[in-house]
Amino acid sequence: MVRIGVIGCGNIMRNAHIGPTLGEHPDVELVAYYDINAEAAEGFARDVGGEVVGSEREVCERSDAVYIAIPPNAHGPAEQAALETGTHFFVEKPQALDLGFAREVAAEVERLDLTTCVGYQWRHSPAGQAVRQAVQASTPVLVNMWWHMGTPKLFFNRFKERSGGQVVEQVTHIVDTMRYAVGEIVEVFGRQRNVVHQDWEDWDNDDVGVACVRFESGALGTITNCYALIDGAPGGSGAEILCTDRRVYWEGKNVTVRTADGEERVPPFDGQPQRCEDLAFIEAVKTGDRSGILSPYSDGLKTLAVTLACAQSGETGTPIGI
Ligand SMILES: NC(=O)c1ccc[n+]([C@@H]2O[C@H](COP(=O)([O-])OP(=O)(O)OC[C@H]3O[C@@H](n4cnc5c(N)ncnc54)[C@H](O)[C@@H]3O)[C@@H](O)[C@H]2O)c1
Repeated sequence: MVRIGVIGCGNIMRNAHIGPTLGEHPDVELVAYYDINAEAAEGFARDVGGEVVGSEREVCERSDAVYIAIPPNAHGPAEQAALETGTHFFVEKPQALDLGFAREVAAEVERLDLTTCVGYQWRHSPAGQAVRQAVQASTPVLVNMWWHMGTPKLFFNRFKERSGGQVVEQVTHIVDTMRYAVGEIVEVFGRQRNVVHQDWEDWDNDDVGVACVRFESGALGTITNCYALIDGAPGGSGAEILCTDRRVYWEGKNVTVRTADGEERVPPFDGQPQRCEDLAFIEAVKTGDRSGILSPYSDGLKTLAVTLACAQSGETGTPIGI
């Protein structure tokens, strides 16, 4: 049995990790929860078993591995507890807002040889695998990435200081999958602006942004992000990768590859995309075989560096090398 503890008992843990996978997994026992909102932790204990404890450290001491699913600006004590107790951990993206802190954690993870995974579900999913396969069979030259929606419901996303901004908190999924399919991003520059939320209370963030990116291979790309749409307006998230002989289009579970011979549609997979990363993480903790984990802490760090650079350049327009 793999004993799992949880730090941060909110929406993503309940609905994407425990609900579809961890709660039903024959090798998983959910043992301990900590949340600064005790009611949230109590709800988990009531609904799926296990106990509420009083600190991050206590969760780690009772667990073989912990899930850290807290707001982006709350990282620090949870990772410190995992490192001090030598506990394997899964951390939801973005893994921090402070790159220096994340680098220190990565160094300790390596020194202690811990099993880690960052919650980049798309590269672990059949859709991410199909995108990578289609792109790597050709030569990618131009990559357009986007995430367009209205005012975010998740409250911390309305504040740049709490979330890191839309690219760091949200478009990070698209950037990560493109790093996986196309390769490393080595330079970015862009702009972020607040256009329609100027007079809003409970808002301190940009709501539109653009960035240009340069891949190590020489391919170029764009990122556009938008929180400015009204309810019902057409939005979406995904990427289009132009290769020398094909156009690969990815939006959630949908992947199509168009060539001179026609269009091939990859059949969408069933279930939640997080299931594959969770199964890989549990298997790695159970057996020591980490080959199924495609985004260990050290790799997630590279996506974080790109997205933080987009946010930073978004304020000045100045190019930043990664
Ligand atoms: N992979 C994905 O697709 C995906 C989707 C949504 C959210 N997320 C990420 O998951 C993380 C959590 O998001 P969520 O939607 O579950 O938010 P949420 O607000 O529903 O839950 C966060 C929980 O953390 C608790 N918390 C806050 N500060 C804490 C602290 N210092 N220590 C312990 N608990 C604390 C809150 O009380 C809350 O219960 C965020 O990083 C978010 O970006 C990932």
